[in-house]
Amino acid sequence: MKAAIIYTSVTGNTSALAEIIQEKMEVKGLAADLIPADEFQKIHLNEYDIVAVGTYSWDNGEIPLEMEEIYEAFESANVKGLTTGVFGTGDSFYPYYCGAVDLFRDMLYVHTNLAVTLKVELTPQEEDLARCEKFCDRLLSEVAVFS
Ligand SMILES: Cc1cc2nc3c(=O)[nH]c(=O)nc-3n(C[C@H](O)[C@H](O)[C@H](O)COP(=O)(O)O)c2cc1C
Repeated sequence: MKAAIIYTSVTGNTSALAEIIQEKMEVKGLAADLIPADEFQKIHLNEYDIVAVGTYSWDNGEIPLEMEEIYEAFESANVKGLTTGVFGTGDSFYPYYCGAVDLFRDMLYVHTNLAVTLKVELTPQEEDLARCEKFCDRLLSEVAVFS
């Protein structure tokens, strides 16, 4: 079983979340490649059984520029059998809280086997650890059913 976590982060919140998710996967016996968005060209989505996408939101709940290529890759590749999850951090001060997570969720639901989503307010806190664990559990149970 192979997993990837593809993420972007400017101020460190989403990368902290990505690292927690990677650790939780590891505890469950799943080694995941942690891939920053700017290294995405080097990978093939079809190599993986599970892909988790991590993004912050900006500009009225939009997807960051550096994630657009990744969004389009899921749309154009044949990834119907890929189990996915999307997570992100945002700031509920903005009207479209974690809007980029919602945009990825809708697209991944159409093009992949979307298992789970997770939104975290800014920096992950102690209480988010259990939510990260659930995120991994959902991915693993979904991949088990689907494959
Ligand atoms: C200019 C700007 C616009 C933002 N717009 C949104 C937004 O529309 N929705 C949201 O939930 N968060 C928004 N945020 C908050 C960031 O998504 C949030 O701080 C996030 O945790 C940053 O992630 P990072 O630390 O991984 O870069 C915005 C932040 C900035 C600086």
